[in-house]
Amino acid sequence: MRIAVVGANGQLGHDVVASFQNNGDDVVAMTHQDVSVDSPESVTRALEAARPEIVVNAAAFNHVEKCETEPGLAFAVNALGVRNVARSSASLQARLFHISTDYVFDGAKGSPYVEDDLPCPLNVYGNSKLAGEYFVRSGNPRHFVLRVSAIYGLHPCRTKGGLNFVEMMLKLATERERLRVVDDEFVSPTSTVEIARQIVKLSRTEEYGLYHASAEGSCSWRQFAQAIFEITGTRTPVDPALPGEFATKVVRPKFSVLENSELKRKSLNLFGHWKDGLKAYFAARERAQAGQ
Ligand SMILES: NC(=O)c1ccc[n+]([C@@H]2O[C@H](COP(=O)([O-])OP(=O)(O)OC[C@H]3O[C@@H](n4cnc5c(N)ncnc54)[C@H](OP(=O)(O)O)[C@@H]3O)[C@@H](O)[C@H]2O)c1
Repeated sequence: MRIAVVGANGQLGHDVVASFQNNGDDVVAMTHQDVSVDSPESVTRALEAARPEIVVNAAAFNHVEKCETEPGLAFAVNALGVRNVARSSASLQARLFHISTDYVFDGAKGSPYVEDDLPCPLNVYGNSKLAGEYFVRSGNPRHFVLRVSAIYGLHPCRTKGGLNFVEMMLKLATERERLRVVDDEFVSPTSTVEIARQIVKLSRTEEYGLYHASAEGSCSWRQFAQAIFEITGTRTPVDPALPGEFATKVVRPKFSVLENSELKRKSLNLFGHWKDGLKAYFAARERAQAGQ
């Protein structure tokens, strides 16, 4: 199949391109230089030239703090930009994959969120992403919206300045004797390779709709850091952050764990436990470092 990936050099976009290529698909990888989602003309021009059967939109403005201070840009990319991609893909009769976020929830539920739970974003980023979801729903009926959580991949996250959480913890461990990490925010850390694999699997179906797409299980950021150090044999102790120690102006959900209930109901779920995803990440990292 012919696939256009928008945001192709992002952390997730990179693995989506690789997954479709490994599947034998014909992939048109589009970076921000090739297409600006916030411009309807740019989107139409790029997609009309590519003539894809499937569009994957992995582009986003996902710097949560900057979204708060630049709400116009957040909505231009994450909401109206998504509308442009949805409308343009629909007019080309292409199916659309769009990536959303656990931050559409407020965290008050306290147990894993399913697709039927009512979103209630706490910040501009979450609101702009939720608006994007609705534009997908109204713009292209043949859509898959995947909400993901706390993602990490071998290719650097562009919005967040390069280092994903895993690499950031390992870097800090070389610089400090002890670390303090937030222990009261719970997520489902998910490897981008697994999300990409899930997208390829869904692409062979017509099971359109909204999906939670995250690894099984959950942990606090501190527990995530401890697991990273356990696997890599890093001995730096990880203490819980003090209350308010990393306070920012952005309110974040305390519990944004996702349950893949739709993928499971349709027997399409490929995700394993988050610790297994993390081990696979380190195995792939080693292979990459060895140049294999
Ligand atoms: N990172 C997380 O922990 C996390 C958690 C939940 C959900 N998500 C969602 O997962 C998806 C992928 O995130 P990621 O971590 O892969 O992000 P990323 O590495 O920052 O990639 C984002 C991509 O979007 C491109 N982009 C930004 N503005 C654009 C525009 N106006 N037009 C076209 N392209 C544009 C960026 O290109 P330039 O850098 O060249 O501008 C980059 O290639 C996003 O939808 C995000 O909201 C991420």
